[in-house]
Amino acid sequence: MATRRILGIETSCDETSAAVLRVEDGRPVLSSLVILSQDIHRVFGGVVPELASREHLRTIGPVVDRALAEAGIGASQLDGIAVTAGPGLIGALLVGLMYGKGLAFGLGKPLIGVHHHEGHLFAPTLDHPGLAPPFIALLVSGGHTMLLDVPAWGLYRLLGETQDDAAGEAFDKVGSLLGLGYPAGAGIERLALRGVPGRFDFPRPMLRNGYAFSFSGLKTAVLRAVRASDDLERDRADLARSFQDAAIEVLVEKTARATLELGRTTAVLAGGVACNRALAEALTVRLTGSAQVVVAAPRLNTDNAAMIAAAGAWRLGNGEHSGMDLEPFDRGPLPGGAEVSIPE
Ligand code: KG4
Ligand code: ZN
Repeated sequence: MATRRILGIETSCDETSAAVLRVEDGRPVLSSLVILSQDIHRVFGGVVPELASREHLRTIGPVVDRALAEAGIGASQLDGIAVTAGPGLIGALLVGLMYGKGLAFGLGKPLIGVHHHEGHLFAPTLDHPGLAPPFIALLVSGGHTMLLDVPAWGLYRLLGETQDDAAGEAFDKVGSLLGLGYPAGAGIERLALRGVPGRFDFPRPMLRNGYAFSFSGLKTAVLRAVRASDDLERDRADLARSFQDAAIEVLVEKTARATLELGRTTAVLAGGVACNRALAEALTVRLTGSAQVVVAAPRLNTDNAAMIAAAGAWRLGNGEHSGMDLEPFDRGPLPGGAEVSIPE
């Protein structure tokens, strides 16, 4: 089978990213991946949409050029352009979308709009080429916490999602309470390594019932403990540890239960929070003997264009592509998604 080369573009939030993916005999091989993280938001403790759009506008051209140069190809050698259409910040998405449309139109190559979450689900295929559905996926990022059953690529059954904060959002908010910069997930994980387990008794919201999640009560419990502390410097690592243990226990319990109840033998961790080693280890231990746990390398878990190229390559391979009227969207379910009711 011929080799196809797909350019991926991702600008849904605060990373400007481009990647070139080669697909050889149906297998994805990453040729290049450039990720430019917008540092400017650190000053504000969260992403400022207007600034994100402006930064994307400034850097999208050089980032795409660099990805092509690192792959050692010219734009004319591309076979398709995959770009994140949503969900995300509309202004930020628009920059990548317009750039992708311009390239696709100018080159006469197909454009494919990719759902950001489908991208996250494809990320682990880049370093685990044998990964294929069926599997259970826990998609945990700064904006989303979803438990999905994936019987086949393109079919996503939502088992449960968060009713309030996303898991990554909880890490970031607790991080800010503990004086860490944004985003705080990696900082909490480092701090937790030095923390004494069990010093704080934080809630495990909705641990045993259903597949939905809730993190705002846990966050509030940490807030109360921070306020009650007479020496935050002394308590910081223990607070981080107790928070992380509580969050992980809930994520692991529900993912493991879904995997076992639906009889899947693979569980995939995806999204930025999947970078958390303690989470992957706890799930692996819990599913030993029942299912394998697959998680991508950290740079592929956080927002990046390689995962967009991988999802786009699969859809293009399916004969799909988007029109030049493709619009960005700020929210919306996965394509091929289906709500399922699971008896509690
Ligand atoms: O997928 P992602 O890059 O962006 C979104 O689509 O939201 O995820 C970013 C999130 C942030 O909330 C960040 O704090 C979290 O992933 N994160 C982590 C870790 N590394 C990143 N959370 C927990 N532990 C980590 N090691
Ligand atoms: Zn993401």
